Amino acid sequence: MVFDYVDGGSGAEITMNANRAAFDEVTFRPRMGEPPASISLNITVLGQELRSPLLFAPCGLMGTIHPDAESGTVRVAEAKGTIAAISSYSSKSLEHIAAASSATKWFQLYFLGGRAGAMSLVERAEACGYGAIVLTLDTNVPASRERDTRNRVIFPLALNLTSIKRFGPMSLARPLWLWRFLRAGMPFHVANVIEARTLSEVDTHASIFNSPPGWNDVEWIRQRFSGKVVVKGILTGEDARRAVEVGADAIIVSNHGGRQLDGAPATLRALPEVVEAVGGRVEVYMDGGIRRGSDIAKAMALGARAVFIGRPYLYGLALAGDTGVVAVHDMLTAQLTETMHLLGCDDVRKLDSSWLW
Ligand code: FNR
Ligand code: LAC
Repeated sequence: MVFDYVDGGSGAEITMNANRAAFDEVTFRPRMGEPPASISLNITVLGQELRSPLLFAPCGLMGTIHPDAESGTVRVAEAKGTIAAISSYSSKSLEHIAAASSATKWFQLYFLGGRAGAMSLVERAEACGYGAIVLTLDTNVPASRERDTRNRVIFPLALNLTSIKRFGPMSLARPLWLWRFLRAGMPFHVANVIEARTLSEVDTHASIFNSPPGWNDVEWIRQRFSGKVVVKGILTGEDARRAVEVGADAIIVSNHGGRQLDGAPATLRALPEVVEAVGGRVEVYMDGGIRRGSDIAKAMALGARAVFIGRPYLYGLALAGDTGVVAVHDMLTAQLTETMHLLGCDDVRKLDSSWLW
């Protein structure tokens, strides 16, 4: 059930699969004869220097995957000189996660408990030093995730007699997972709204669908938050211009990993249009389908300043907690370094369309 929640997408999973397939259609234009002596993966994101262009995307309910969850991920981000964005649906409170590392963290905002709830989340994120609010705009209704339907997962997850009866048998088939999950105190609830433990409480306090955010919300976030505002879920030039107009500091080209609108374009295909519309006024990042280091180089050559991964680090987390997240980060950046050597390009900041066929 947990694997399907992470691994799956919405509808026929067309968009999810298209995200991955789009990378296969991009071909490099390598340069021979000037082999780089060393490779730099350093970038800056919103004025901050990072040692890696690979950031961790906000993912909900990580406590169901492994108890290290978000706290482990922010520790890995700090060690690797990158940034983790923490979901509103984190398995521990945003204060608890903030305390796990002194490095910059971003907070992904859902309107949990409506606009009033969102205001309080923004104020709490401000108080514990998150560097940016990531406002996700592609989730105004829950999308049909058919694997979850088959497993009879009710979103958001809640622990009660019904779910124990439903998930008990499949949990027994995964004793290591079950043992970790029980030891971690069964983190099924929405920690940022701690009172929401039963399904009806989740509905009142933790539904993100009562008043989903729109463009006009960027301004009040700015009034309550001194850090940056990043808009996530943009796929077109029109929306990118709109995000710039309302004052976003950066855009994440994303279709939620193919978990929301099935039939939305692959993010790698949407990226050039967004980059062109923005014309350098704000930073543009992307996520969706990155599974190899060469994918990072392709996205950067098409104009992404940095990329995020979702599922890949969750798979690492599932296998070995934060050690697994380290392994995934290191594997992808080692592959990126190899790609850069073979391309003949010594610095990821130099990647542009001249490196593509
Ligand atoms: C997500 N994603 C997501 N996005 C967001 O803004 N808030 C959230 O709470 C979540 N939750 C979430 C849970 C899980 C299990 C996954 C896999 C994804 C989307 C995520 O931030 C990102 O956009 C995609 O995961 C990127 O695609 P890949 O790397 O998974 O292909
Ligand atoms: C998801 C929600 C948490 O993608 O955004 O599962």
